[in-house]
Amino acid sequence: MPAIKACLFDLDGVIVDTAKFHYIAWRRLANDLGFDLSIEENEKLKGISRMESLEIILAIGGVQLSEEGKLKRAAEKNVRYLELCQQMTPDDTLPGVRLFLDELKSASIRTGLGSASKNARIILERIDMLSYFETIVDGNRVTKGKPDPEVFLLGAADLEISPENCAVFEDAVAGVQSAKAAGMMAVGIGEKSVLTEADLVVPGFSNFHLADLLSWKSA
Ligand code: G6P
Ligand code: MG
Repeated sequence: MPAIKACLFDLDGVIVDTAKFHYIAWRRLANDLGFDLSIEENEKLKGISRMESLEIILAIGGVQLSEEGKLKRAAEKNVRYLELCQQMTPDDTLPGVRLFLDELKSASIRTGLGSASKNARIILERIDMLSYFETIVDGNRVTKGKPDPEVFLLGAADLEISPENCAVFEDAVAGVQSAKAAGMMAVGIGEKSVLTEADLVVPGFSNFHLADLLSWKSA
């Protein structure tokens, strides 16, 4: 098994629980357009870019909008989302995340963020975690969304680490697929029944340490 030299992290649902805010903001948009958005439908939006998410939601509601209308609705959703994010503090960082990143630093394992979000830097600033990542690949940089491997390949290239030496932490099906397409180890954060393509699935970082990751690789 190749050694792990870098860890790349998704943001939403891995570092911080913003998924609930995305859901509230998308659901309000759906409600404004006259339909509802279930939790199951929302699951399909995880890891998916803002405009692609909007297209999926419009298809669910059977609503058609002009290009201008789509941009307006997406902008409205983002304003609501960022309003909700205002209430976040460093305490909203998911349990165990900081400790895990500290362990990586002590072991000289490189760190990067790979997120579809255009708000990644704003969110990291809010939770005071910007300095934990040596590179940030966000929605402003990628041209192809997850499940395309671009986001994680760019992260690995920034860190000058070969993809086979990278492990990716992801809570979304599309994100796990992106990691696997990049030729990286994929650690799913969530449930095995959902993240079926991940190499390893853990509920979160609370009881997960670097030693667990390294021993899994050499197993
Ligand atoms: C992440 C989230 C998605 C979100 C996407 C774009 O991947 O999981 O739910 O749609 O980022 O986020 P943004 O902040 O740019 O709207
Ligand atoms: Mg995510």
